[in-house]
Amino acid sequence: MKEFSRRVSQKIDKLSPLQIQNLVEGCYEQTEMFDSIFQSLPSGLIIVDENFCLIKINKAAERYLPFKINPEDSKSENLPVWNFIDDEEIAKFLQNAHENDKTNISEEYTVSTSGGAVRFIDVYLTPLVQNQNLDKNLIGSIIRIDDVTEKRNQEVLLHRMETLAGLTNVAASVAHEIKNPLGAISIHIQLMQKAIKKKREGDGLLPPPKYAEDYLDVVTQEIERLNKIVVDFLMAVRPISANLELVNPNKILTEFISFFTPEFTEKNIELESDLCGCDVRLLLDAKLFREVIVNLSQNAISAIEKKFGVDEDSEKRSRVHGKIRINSKIENDRYILTFSDDGCGMDEITSSRVFEPYFTTKSNGTGLGMAMSYKIIKEFSGDVSIDSAIGEGTTFKIELPVPQMEKKLLTFRENCSGEN
Ligand SMILES: Nc1ncnc2c1ncn2[C@@H]1O[C@H](COP(=O)(O)OP(=O)(O)O)[C@@H](O)[C@H]1O
Ligand SMILES: [Mg+2]
Repeated sequence: MKEFSRRVSQKIDKLSPLQIQNLVEGCYEQTEMFDSIFQSLPSGLIIVDENFCLIKINKAAERYLPFKINPEDSKSENLPVWNFIDDEEIAKFLQNAHENDKTNISEEYTVSTSGGAVRFIDVYLTPLVQNQNLDKNLIGSIIRIDDVTEKRNQEVLLHRMETLAGLTNVAASVAHEIKNPLGAISIHIQLMQKAIKKKREGDGLLPPPKYAEDYLDVVTQEIERLNKIVVDFLMAVRPISANLELVNPNKILTEFISFFTPEFTEKNIELESDLCGCDVRLLLDAKLFREVIVNLSQNAISAIEKKFGVDEDSEKRSRVHGKIRINSKIENDRYILTFSDDGCGMDEITSSRVFEPYFTTKSNGTGLGMAMSYKIIKEFSGDVSIDSAIGEGTTFKIELPVPQMEKKLLTFRENCSGEN
């Protein structure tokens, strides 16, 4: 096409008006076709010149990005694109890239749609190069925007599949757990059958009701145990359906602390907290987040009681001097929650197995609290790690991403408080 255009431009004065008309029409059709392709691409594309002023934008880009003013209107004013993008972070990313001559870079952002849903987008910046003869000239940049919400959802799904892969271990544990109550039920039914047979062969009467009742009580208890195993199993393997909303984790923690402080005091456990003052909001399911905190607290209490001992005698109970510390802060755009206790701590093997379903070191434990908490934190796109020393205590560190639109608000609030 380029070669063709060059040749035509050299011979244009030799062409008849009809030939020129045909040529122009051909060019017009080609342009129309390229434009249709450009507009139909699922990726958002913004083509800018060396000064980052708009050359062309497609429909997908308009759908994904929030704009302050119509990009086409701003074109006439020759303003760089960051002036009309209504998202401070994305605008800053582009301006920075231009000022520091950076290219071939990308960043992920969260944007909310007009319907209020949160979507994840990737913004890529690549050079726009024009080949002239053998030279390559940089004539601008291509900004590509991809909606990666589905990809993110797929990642969550993949994580669930991985959890399912771990199910073989869980199934083995469940089979093992089921064997004991089944054995007990079988033995007690056999005992009852034997007693009935003996009586029938003897005086022909049924065994005294006490016999039957005792055996049936055991059978009932064991059936209940079986039921609990099945319910716990379902809880461990069922995917969590998190209802993610923008919520303030510090508020949930404050409510939790004020609600549970009497219980800690009663157990002679001191509760210390230092929550970062900001009212940051994260994409969480408040109910599930609370469940994680409750699980962490229950384990911390057990660990403290294991180390210091519990005594029903209230005077002796004053010997228990455990401490739980809950801290939160924002670091590198992530919300960090640390939950520490000075309880019995764990050895390396125990800490490496804490999140395994059915792993417990307690005689009455289910081994599901931390497995569930791990699943929940992963559902929030977060991470959890353990730092524990035997005899000294344990710290759980939960890291959660701060949505990009919240980062904006935080910076704004910080600036405001700085001005006061
Ligand atoms: N804060 C802690 N201190 C010491 N050990 C802990 C702590 N939290 C969890 N663990 C260990 O991890 C295991 C699994 O915890 P969890 O999944 O909550 O199940 P459960 O509490 O029913 O045992 C516990 O049995 C314990 O050995
Ligand atoms: Mg627990």
